[in-house]
Amino acid sequence: MPLVIIAGSEGDTGQQLAAELGLDPSLQIQMAESLEDARDTIDASSPTVVVVCPPIEPVEGVALATLMQRRDSDTVVVLVAEDPDAALLRAALKAGVRDVFMPADGVATMAESVIAASAAISRRREPQGNRVETPAEPPHSATVITVFSTKGGVGKSVLSTNIAAALAHDLGKKTVLLDLDLEFGDVSVMLQLPPERTIYDAAQAFDRLDPQMLAGFLVKHSSGLSALLAPVRPEEAESVTMNRVAQIITMLKTMADYVVIDTPASLSDVVLTALEHSDVVLAVATLDIPSVKNTKVSLAKLHQLGLDGSVRLVLNRADSKVWLEPHEIEKAMADRLVARIPSDRIVPRSVNRGVPVVLDAPRSGVARAIVGLVREVASA
Ligand SMILES: Nc1ncnc2c1ncn2[C@@H]1O[C@H](COP(=O)(O)OP(=O)(O)O)[C@@H](O)[C@H]1O
Ligand SMILES: [Mg+2]
Repeated sequence: MPLVIIAGSEGDTGQQLAAELGLDPSLQIQMAESLEDARDTIDASSPTVVVVCPPIEPVEGVALATLMQRRDSDTVVVLVAEDPDAALLRAALKAGVRDVFMPADGVATMAESVIAASAAISRRREPQGNRVETPAEPPHSATVITVFSTKGGVGKSVLSTNIAAALAHDLGKKTVLLDLDLEFGDVSVMLQLPPERTIYDAAQAFDRLDPQMLAGFLVKHSSGLSALLAPVRPEEAESVTMNRVAQIITMLKTMADYVVIDTPASLSDVVLTALEHSDVVLAVATLDIPSVKNTKVSLAKLHQLGLDGSVRLVLNRADSKVWLEPHEIEKAMADRLVARIPSDRIVPRSVNRGVPVVLDAPRSGVARAIVGLVREVASA
């Protein structure tokens, strides 16, 4: 019978959760006062889930998750923290913690997550029986390209839609475009895709989400790309938490050759999650002083977070005479330059028509520059 350990038996949450989970006859529940006490059981009986509740410090739970990851153990760690801040969430995400709850979320919600996780793991552990054995292949993993800028209107959505369309259409790659501008996503409009299914549906599926279900939420475009669109109503964005986004990106990576991510003009948790999962980050800047300054500041911030290793700079509207010349940008940024996209009236025209430039005007300078960028990134 799957074993769930609840550490933090002194606290109210731990006790209430144990009572709630005790109602499920298919689970064996064991309480422990501290993680130290639980250690031998964790080593000897490989529980499906360890829930770390107050008064145990959440960092201890993160450390346990890191240890499980290092050991290649499939034991899942769920955290209950009094007051999780962004730093804790980031650490938890990195360590592979399954879920972070606050006591106020209620034990019913926690129990639901624990039961689903435990069931998934015990299914995986079942002997393979007479299933046909397939040779173990390395898991397929897509290249993730995130288009980023903390400034609006610099061309992130134009570029991400065109990059994804070029990957799918010109390079014949299996490509998913993920619109993480959750409140005001433009991908649906720029590609004329009806938002009948969106990332909101995927987030609502919680732990039931698997690649097959996720594929059902993608909307297909004539270029060959598939899009996971932003929610229709801004208030739906709230339920698309950073944990869900991490889960969705991880799953999309198993489903495509490329995952291209469009982002809002911010450094929100959701955007940081995307950056953390990225193989290539394309920082978009235009050649005006505010944009260059903004890019400099955000690159410094990414550097601080250790997320700037894969950042490449794309100058958009790079020929506008009234603005800075490309050589006027700082050397540190110039070193990372991968593409200059000219300014052209055909861009707003294509946005209004809902057809990407790379398909609408493939011979234009803009389309050539974008396809060149895509080839460069794809071959790296
Ligand atoms: N290379 C370009 N030439 C001309 N106009 C452009 C170019 N790139 C973007 N634009 C215009 O700028 C507007 C904002 O672009 P968008 O991709 O929506 O920015 P963001 O997603 O960064 O907010 C678009 O409507 C488009 O018309
Ligand atoms: Mg945009």
